[in-house]
Amino acid sequence: MVGPPGAGKGTQAQILASELSIPKVSTGDIFRANVSGGTELGNQAKTYMDRGELVPDEVTNAMVRDRLAQDDAKAGFLLDGFPRNVAQAETLNKILGELDELLDVVLELRVDKEEVVKRLSGRRSCRNCGHVQHVDYDPPKTEGVCDSCGGELFQRDDDREETIRRRLEVYDEQTAPLVSFYDNEGLLVPIKATGPVEDVTARAMEALRSRT
Ligand code: AP5
Ligand code: MG
Repeated sequence: MVGPPGAGKGTQAQILASELSIPKVSTGDIFRANVSGGTELGNQAKTYMDRGELVPDEVTNAMVRDRLAQDDAKAGFLLDGFPRNVAQAETLNKILGELDELLDVVLELRVDKEEVVKRLSGRRSCRNCGHVQHVDYDPPKTEGVCDSCGGELFQRDDDREETIRRRLEVYDEQTAPLVSFYDNEGLLVPIKATGPVEDVTARAMEALRSRT
């Protein structure tokens, strides 16, 4: 899945991966788990994430290479937040070649900037299960408590206004070129990512069915 910060990649990845019974590989989630766990990888990633910059490609690519080689990814996987620049996309093609696999489809989640800022500033994520909610669009039944597992909801460090702005710039400069990259490979399917979450899921499932 490709799309700007706040497009709903994580929200859709969780639903689609469960519908399709395949793992979702969310590089942002893996980095955040490492930051909370205080690992070497987490320490390396944190300074970049806090500034809204991309973590260096060597670090990110090695992490994805390991993840995709695991047994549960043999029957398919859904990538959320990777690749994020053309160099990562080229490395992904190499990794897939080594694993004798191909991408079926690249879903481009389309949302305008104003909506993205509203979504990110009101986002809350569960510390326990990673479920994502929103203070206005998907308010928790009890404030601060995850509807899915009862865990604690928190606001991500990089959802501060100035960091959101930088993440959007980084998207335009480095990630947006992937749209034409994957269009040239014949893999791109743009999807309207506004409106109810279920409607976006239905559009994504339709796109997947038409390509797999
Ligand atoms: P990452 O975690 O990938 O963040 P991101 O791309 O900025 O995307 P977000 O997670 O912010 O948004 P999302 O599209 O998942 O939206 P969500 O579903 O949560 O990356 C974080 C950092 O890690 C990067 O800045 C970088 O430093 C590093 N990193 C990660 N991958 C990397 C890579 N490959 N290379 C280098 N560095 C990397 O939804 C947002 C909100 O909207 C939620 O509150 C949700 O409830 C709400 N919402 C969702 N859908 C709808 C809807 N249809 N209507 C209303 N509200 C909705
Ligand atoms: Mg996400």
